[in-house]
Amino acid sequence: MQIESLRIQNVRILDNIRITPGQTLNSIVGPNASGKTSFLEAIYILSRGRSFRTPRIHEVITNHKETLLVSAEGSNRNDRRMQTGIEKSRGRTCLKYNGFIVSKISQQAANLPVILITPESHSLVTGDPKRRRLWLDWALFHVEPSYLDHWRAYHRAYRQRNHLVQQGMKDSNQITGWERAMEQEATVITFLRKRFIEDLQGQFTLLAEETGPLQVQIELQQGWTDGTNLYEVLESSREADIQTGHTRHGIHRGDVVFKRDNRSMSRVCSRGEIKQFITILLIAQARLLSMRLGEYPLILFDDLASELDVNSRNLVITLLQGLHSQVFMTMTDIESTGTARVGEAVFHVEHGNIRKVVR
Ligand SMILES: Nc1ncnc2c1ncn2[C@@H]1O[C@H](COP(=O)(O)OP(=O)(O)OP(=O)(O)O)[C@@H](O)[C@H]1O
Ligand SMILES: [Mg+2]
Repeated sequence: MQIESLRIQNVRILDNIRITPGQTLNSIVGPNASGKTSFLEAIYILSRGRSFRTPRIHEVITNHKETLLVSAEGSNRNDRRMQTGIEKSRGRTCLKYNGFIVSKISQQAANLPVILITPESHSLVTGDPKRRRLWLDWALFHVEPSYLDHWRAYHRAYRQRNHLVQQGMKDSNQITGWERAMEQEATVITFLRKRFIEDLQGQFTLLAEETGPLQVQIELQQGWTDGTNLYEVLESSREADIQTGHTRHGIHRGDVVFKRDNRSMSRVCSRGEIKQFITILLIAQARLLSMRLGEYPLILFDDLASELDVNSRNLVITLLQGLHSQVFMTMTDIESTGTARVGEAVFHVEHGNIRKVVR
């Protein structure tokens, strides 16, 4: 995926900008509050239909304006041309890809895959399981075309079972049917999740060999006891689930654990180590995605310098350069990129205006 020209209107402080990005590494440099994160937010909105900072689009639209617009032209795999744009106002979204209206965000996310790294990505290690499940589901959805259908079918069955459990329903064909459906979908989803985690571990280990001694084990917790059958677990826990009012086993309780020396990273690693780990993990994810889809995702990297010392930054930039993805990374000063910057485009942002300073 390659954006060759980009237009942003009314995204926070960015009222009207047009740029022609470089093919590989693009540095977006500017002081605090100049519009750097807003710039990444705009590209993210074009891919996912929503902001990563707020679910309320009116907060993103420039004050006193009604509608935001982001559009891009470029090429995707096999050098096919792509033209896409999104217009959003309160309660209305119009999204187009190559002249056609796109009604499903999942379709657009596949058209224009992005991987986002922000200072908040830290929560992938330190946050709650819900955060990791969301990441895992999006990652899988990008690499496994059938994943979304199974995920939806599972959650339909899960909601129905929850409903029956809340009504105190213990023995009925209905609850048996939904539990069977949950088991069936959970089997496929867990198989896909496990395979993805194994592949990701493989890519991560390869990258970690290039970057130094960062040995991390990535483990999937499936959401119920390993080696047991989910239907049997659900059936035997009906009584207890009725007491708590919800279904306590299944892939909706799954999690991913990151361990170093057999101990959870969130308890033994420094903030900088976690940031470095997450960055390498997400680069490994991008590599996996490009191997499976033949398409390089865009990388949006907000605030490169946060928590990373100059050596770590250099290392990350070297990895990004080896990725063939188009990268947009923000920083407050160009020195943040250390010594590793070669051949990339640099943009200066000030009060919402963007100017290219290096080709
Ligand atoms: N809806 C809005 N309309 C106009 N301006 C807004 C809106 N929402 C936020 N802003 C302003 O946009 C400016 C740019 O914010 P942004 O988060 O993009 O800055 P930044 O360059 O990433 O800064 P930092 O280096 O501190 O992360 C801020 O001054 C912010 O207050
Ligand atoms: Mg910012």
